[in-house]
This record gives sequence, C-alpha cells and structure tokens, in this order.
Amino acid sequence: MRLFPKMKEDAVRAIKKPDDFMGGDIPDFAAISAAAAKRSNGAEAGCPWISEGLLIYIPVAGSTNSYAKELAAKGRAEGTVVIAGGQTEGRGRLGRKWDSAIGKGVYLSVILRPRIQPSEIGALTLAAAVAVVEAVNELLGSGYAGVKWPNDVLVKKPADTKTRKICGILAEMMCGEGGIEHLVLGIGINVNHVECDFPAELREKAVSLRMAYERINGVDRIFCRAAVTAALLSWLEKGYNRYIAGDRAGVMDDWRRYSLTIGREVLFEANGVRMSGMAKDIDINGKLVVSLEGGEEKILNSGEIILKGKAGFI
Ligand code: BTN
Repeated sequence: MRLFPKMKEDAVRAIKKPDDFMGGDIPDFAAISAAAAKRSNGAEAGCPWISEGLLIYIPVAGSTNSYAKELAAKGRAEGTVVIAGGQTEGRGRLGRKWDSAIGKGVYLSVILRPRIQPSEIGALTLAAAVAVVEAVNELLGSGYAGVKWPNDVLVKKPADTKTRKICGILAEMMCGEGGIEHLVLGIGINVNHVECDFPAELREKAVSLRMAYERINGVDRIFCRAAVTAALLSWLEKGYNRYIAGDRAGVMDDWRRYSLTIGREVLFEANGVRMSGMAKDIDINGKLVVSLEGGEEKILNSGEIILKGKAGFI
C-alpha cells in the first residue's frame, strides 16, 4: 500500500531557482529525481517522496524545519520534503544552531503524519537515524557509520583520532486533542565540507562525507548532493514504512547493530545532577537504559549523553 497520496497540483513543487545561485550540483527536484531513477536503474524511483514530486527546493532557507512546520500546519501532505541548498537559521537539538553552509550539505525536513502517540516519537527518530546510517554506509562503504543515542550519526575512524558527527536529526511535532497532528523530521548531513568549512568549535567534532571518504580511501571526492538526497530519502522512506507497519523490534535491533553507544561509559545530566554509567540497552520505545555504579538503572527519555572513549569525549 502506498502511504503517500499522489500530489495533483504542480504548484506544490514550488521550486525556486534564482539565477544567481551557483551551487554546482544543485540538489533540485530534477536532479534528485534523476539521481533516484539512476539508483533504481532507470525504473521508477520506488520512493513516492521523490517519484511523486513531493519535493520543495529552496536555495537558501531560514530553517527547513520552520518552513515545513508552516506547510504542515496548512495541511500539506505527508511525505512532502523541504530541501535547502543552505540555511541561515538552521536549528539543532536542545536549542543549538545547526551550521548549514550553502552548497556544502544536505539540509531537509520531511512532513510526516504518523498515527502514533507522542510518547512513541523517540523510537521514530531512532528509525530515522538507522536510515541515515544505511544511506551513509551505502556511500562510504559499510561499517563506517553508527549511531550515538538518541539519533546522532557518527563516522568511525580510520586514521582519525576520534569518532565524529556527520548528521543530526531534529524532530518537532504538533499535537492536537487526538494525538499527533504532524511531525517534521529535519535532517542535516555534512557532505562536501572540508575542515575549515566548519566553525572553529566544531572542527574537532564534525566530519563530512568528503572528509570521511578521503580518510578511508585517500582520495578527495566531491559528492553529488542530489544523489546523497536521493539515497537518504529512499532509505528514510523504507525505515518509516517499516516503523509504521509495526516492526519496531526490528528497527530497534538495527539501531543496536549500528550502536556506538551500548556498552560504553556515558555521562549525562538528570534533574540537574551530572551522572555517569554504562549504556546497557535501549527499550522498545528507544529509551536508553543506563546502569549506574551500584547496580541502579536509569532510563533516559531524551536529552544528551556524552560518550567516553579512549580518544576522549564526544
Ligand atoms: C542536531 O544534531 O542537533 C540536529 C540537527 C538538525 C539539523 C537539520 S538541517 C535541516 C533541518 N532544519 C533545521 O533547522 N534543522 C534540521
């Protein structure tokens, strides 16, 4: 069954391409559709978000999440994707800024209307993180990307001193009396950044596909952002459909398989108190189970953890 209704009005594509935008590989609708068709050897893309034209491309947005939230509030269909070439007010989790250099990364937000309870959203964002790992591993080679709870995607070494963040996910939902009205899932992937494209405070912590590829293969490769977008959307749609179809245990098992968190010492804050413990597992709702010294268990709902490792903290 197709979850996403076919859009009838062409106007919803609303692709804007100002003449002065020189983005090189502009990830616009046509480029993404072409990349999606190439993925499926010229056959139908197999991803209605792409093949049915639910894409809105904005060369430079404030924040794609803010824009998608406005559209969602006006009733725009599930599966609509707002994609930007760059963002001036990219937002991250916990009130942080998401650095969104123009022409360097993939910045997009998907409107979803899952029939689930607000308390189940955490698990859905873990499913999205699994999809990103699958897309990144498709591009870099399997085994390099993994997840830091709840939904940061990191790339492991080689030839690097630290595991670094390549992608962040920001889920924002609107609830009404009947539960979730809509959810906007915002994803930012660092694609063609080199170290100096990141602000100084992120240079030790962030990595792009290009930087990781160079570390792995010793070759400087510029990625086509349309192809990265097409890969991301098709993995994301698969993961979302699987989650909605009820295979949560399978999604959580995949998350565990890609986990860079379970079995590691983690630092976190609970009710204003700094604590540390061993990340033991995630539950079916994607909550993190941490064993404290002395055997007590703490269940973390959301927030942030810091992973302690040989090479420091991330
Ligand atoms: C995080 O790790 O803190 C989450 C970062 C999420 C960034 C993406 S980029 C596309 C979308 N629009 C935003 O303003 N934020 C998300």
